[in-house]
Amino acid sequence: MTTGKGLKLVERDADGVDLAFRADVLAGLAEPQKAVPARWFYDDAGSRLFEDITRLPEYYLTRAETEILRGRAEEIAGLIGPGRAVVEFGSGSSVKTPLLLSAIAPSAYVPLDIAGDFLRAAAAELAGKFAGLPVYPVEADFMRRVELPAEVEGLPKLGFFPGSTIGNMIARTATDLLRSMRETLGEGALLLIGMDLVKDEGTLIAAYDDAAGVTARFNLNLLHRINRELAGDIPVDAFAHEARWNDPFARIEMHLVAQQDVSFTVSGQRFAMTAGETIHTENSHKFTKRSGQMLLAAGGWEPRARWTDSESRFALVLAEAKPPRSAP
Ligand code: AVI
Repeated sequence: MTTGKGLKLVERDADGVDLAFRADVLAGLAEPQKAVPARWFYDDAGSRLFEDITRLPEYYLTRAETEILRGRAEEIAGLIGPGRAVVEFGSGSSVKTPLLLSAIAPSAYVPLDIAGDFLRAAAAELAGKFAGLPVYPVEADFMRRVELPAEVEGLPKLGFFPGSTIGNMIARTATDLLRSMRETLGEGALLLIGMDLVKDEGTLIAAYDDAAGVTARFNLNLLHRINRELAGDIPVDAFAHEARWNDPFARIEMHLVAQQDVSFTVSGQRFAMTAGETIHTENSHKFTKRSGQMLLAAGGWEPRARWTDSESRFALVLAEAKPPRSAP
């Protein structure tokens, strides 16, 4: 087993503040509809809470995707072939990543994640399970093109983006990401991507507002993170979690709703909210076969195969990077 050092690509100021986090939070809180990008959920506590979410009875996504990976492993491996360097966008789950790696006989595994500690822990755990597989964790914001470790240069690549994380982006951002994945992975790359599907509203709301309140804690953790890392004094108890279905955009939205008038400071800047006002913290878009295919095409990827679980709740799509062309 070889574990790469992990390149430090996150920019911090002298106090260790993540500059992109501060810029996103200050800009988002200054908007008429306050909003913070969902990627900032994933500090260590947030990453752990998300792992808890994936085990909730209401959160079907992980089980459905795992069912596909297990049940279709041979077919998936046949199309991908052996010897690819698997580049995972996100630090990898304890269940899905080993399923994929043991199915396809890869030549290396490169997890990319912005949450460094969680990334290293996940990479070490993975390396322990796959003796002989080189693992090169890279701490990076994968929304931009990422310089991959020299050790995997020249190897054919398979991007792995499970979990329907693509659904957490609006179409423009998702397209930008798919395009930068193409740049990161290079010509001839394949991408195995999970996409959650449109379904009845009750099932969707329950998945994002579970009875045990884990998703609520996950959402509220963002405020704790802002207070801790950006010298904030947000009264966290004055906010409540809400999940809404936005039908025109086919997405679940998560909000933090002010339960009373509040004012607070973040990084020396003052903000005020009236009761009922919200901070929009996440979009989770749901796809149809067509909308998923359109999105991939816009990002420069052509679907090669598509699998769904036994209840048609979730899709796993294998796509191929296409060279740009102007003719139809
Ligand atoms: C990571 N992502 C795909 C999750 C989702 O379902 O949108 C994040 C999440 N938010 C609330 N629950 C889970």
